[in-house]
Amino acid sequence: MIPNKEKVVTRGLRDVAAAETRISFVDPLGALYYSGYDIDDLVGKVCYEEVAHLLLYNKLPTKSELELFRTLLVSEMKLPRALLKSIQRTPPSGHPIEVLRTAVSILGMYDPEHDDNSDPANQRRAIQLVAKVPAIVAALHRLRSGQKVLAPDGNLGFAENFLYMLRGKNAVRNEKKAIDRFMILHADHGFNASTFAARVTASTRSDMYSGVISAIGTLKGALHGGASERVMRMLFEVSSVEEVDDYIQGLLDDQRKIMGFGHRIYVAEDPRAKHLRAISEKLCHRRGKLHEYYKCQKIESAVYSKKKIFPNVDFYAALVMHALDIKKEFFTALFASSRISGWTAHIMEQYADAVLIRPTSKYISEYGRKFVPIAKR
Ligand code: COA
Repeated sequence: MIPNKEKVVTRGLRDVAAAETRISFVDPLGALYYSGYDIDDLVGKVCYEEVAHLLLYNKLPTKSELELFRTLLVSEMKLPRALLKSIQRTPPSGHPIEVLRTAVSILGMYDPEHDDNSDPANQRRAIQLVAKVPAIVAALHRLRSGQKVLAPDGNLGFAENFLYMLRGKNAVRNEKKAIDRFMILHADHGFNASTFAARVTASTRSDMYSGVISAIGTLKGALHGGASERVMRMLFEVSSVEEVDDYIQGLLDDQRKIMGFGHRIYVAEDPRAKHLRAISEKLCHRRGKLHEYYKCQKIESAVYSKKKIFPNVDFYAALVMHALDIKKEFFTALFASSRISGWTAHIMEQYADAVLIRPTSKYISEYGRKFVPIAKR
């Protein structure tokens, strides 16, 4: 026996680099790079399709490549009738992120290239998933409000199509910008928990759908993508700016985490938060919801003064989605609808790395306990 009590445990894998990646870099000092580009240089200058192309192919597309890519993505937003039927049959008690997890599983079973795990098959699959995950979310959003599921509109860009398929009306100019930027800002984020889960699954040479399902299940948690829905609950609970201080103090006194704040990697502000803050202010202004924005500002200053922590991506993302008329139960699913481009890129990178991710643990129990047969226990 090789005793392992001396093993050093890195709790939560904090600061452990589990692989090399070219896809994105999270700089603790408050920057985020997608395949070499600072997101601050991308937001407002590129569209989500360009970012998805960058993550998947390590290259920003040319004009003609972008046209082709967009046409392909929009056409892939069409969902198989059988899948829609299965979604309709899911129990109403199922949370949208649970339905999405199940729908991706069903989608995998309809894949005509089911047993082909080659690079070309996975490239095709990645495009289908980047297009179909938002389409599933949009379809469910419609069904849950008793509305007809909509097909994509070939005249619209990808992100605005997503919003159109969710709400059934064409987005106005600042809404188009908002959804596009929202999707760009959620597209990838280093070795976050859901991406790591996807890579662990891919490392066993399981299929891409299984990797995405692992990622969705991980994103669902309150400490990850599940935070944004809880941010909205908090905003509904605090009815005015004046109540914010006491409310936040109450949460801290109860040793509760403030949703949408803090981060494992950033020691400065999450660079995505400043973009989402600006987007949410513009949307709230236009939609007569500035009171919600002011509450957020007050929560931000109260949390900073009491805990010295900053908002993360989920805080102002919640307000952006609310101002776009998305139901709060769908917030995490919208996160997944954008992160799918990062997840699929990471799954393919993991296949190329071809190493099984299998850590060890430090065993802390006994050795050689005396076995007692069941009759004598
Ligand atoms: N509210 C209150 N305190 C928080 C906090 C939050 N949201 N986030 C971190 N802290 C505090 C912790 O209580 C701890 O304080 P202490 O040292 O006095 O005990 C310290 O900051 C470190 O926090 P810790 O939980 O150890 O950091 P972590 O790296 O393990 O966790 C998160 C990172 C994201 C899980 C954590 O910040 C969190 O739970 N945030 C809320 C959920 C959320 O918004 N998730 C989305 C992430 S993008």
